[in-house]
Amino acid sequence: MVREILRMKEEQRAVILAHYYQDAIIQDIADVRGDSFELSRRARETDADVIVFAGVHFMAETAKILNPDKTVLLPDMNAGCSLAESAPAHLFRRFRELHPDHLAVTYINCTAEVKALSDIICTSSSAERILRHIPKEIPVLFSPDKNLGRYVRQRTGRPMLLWEGVCTVHEQFSEQRIASLRDEYPDAEVIAHPECEEAVLRHAHFVGSTSALLQYVQDSAAQRFIVATEAGILHQMKLHAPGKEFIPAPPDNQCACNVCDYMKVNTLEKLYLCLRDRRPEITVSDALRERALLPIERMLALATADEAEAVRIIAGIRLPWRAT
Ligand code: 13P
Ligand code: SF4
Repeated sequence: MVREILRMKEEQRAVILAHYYQDAIIQDIADVRGDSFELSRRARETDADVIVFAGVHFMAETAKILNPDKTVLLPDMNAGCSLAESAPAHLFRRFRELHPDHLAVTYINCTAEVKALSDIICTSSSAERILRHIPKEIPVLFSPDKNLGRYVRQRTGRPMLLWEGVCTVHEQFSEQRIASLRDEYPDAEVIAHPECEEAVLRHAHFVGSTSALLQYVQDSAAQRFIVATEAGILHQMKLHAPGKEFIPAPPDNQCACNVCDYMKVNTLEKLYLCLRDRRPEITVSDALRERALLPIERMLALATADEAEAVRIIAGIRLPWRAT
């Protein structure tokens, strides 16, 4: 199956982008592995004809918004996300209508419809940098992840109104069991994704996106880490920091809830079938795409912008907000 996937990939001029939460075998055969930000950036830059997105729906949809002329495939259309589901577009629109003077910074884990109703998209690796560019006197709505929002609010000291969404994987970690692991392994460092609850982040020596966590385990002098994020990243950590030990942070129950079931509906077989049949294919209407593109492009620009460029981008956002 792997041989066939690689052959079809060449034949169709396809590129496989895989999020770090995919199964190890899918990460291994992908052309690009990364966190949400890196994958969006690479999706924008690719010159392939076909993008196979081994990730969840909102990621593949973002790739399509950035590449209207390319075929974008997602191995399983059921690859959803609890955060995206927590913010239906009609309720998000209402949230904006109630706070028209607020600028809406929205985590990329949302539907194209919600992106289209937002001013700036962000990812876990770009949220803090983007929010630091926004003048403090401009009030901000942050959606849909309340944990990431609260974390960035603490880091930047700026007040923000938060949508009440959570990632059902990252909210499962048990503070008590992490504390017991720290007692058992006093030399271990706790590293955590900002989608985790505050009680878990309080134990963390380092907080960051999946890419940042992967970089941290390579740079740190520590030899042992308690990892509070989805277990798929452990594959890359073992490859990039061989000899170091990684202990998955345990969830609040006996099951393996630090696995994202949405991410794991993609399998090698479905990847093979989607290249063979060129479906399921992501489609986005032109009207929706046009409205969703601008806030994504603002994210990509603000992540590397200098101060003058950031001022120019933010000045271009029209407030008070009005539904179009
Ligand atoms: P990052 O890819 O930004 O680390 O986010 C993790 C995640 O939960 C993606 O759905
Ligand atoms: Fe969504 Fe959480 Fe799964 Fe990421 S890990 S796709 S945020 S449910």
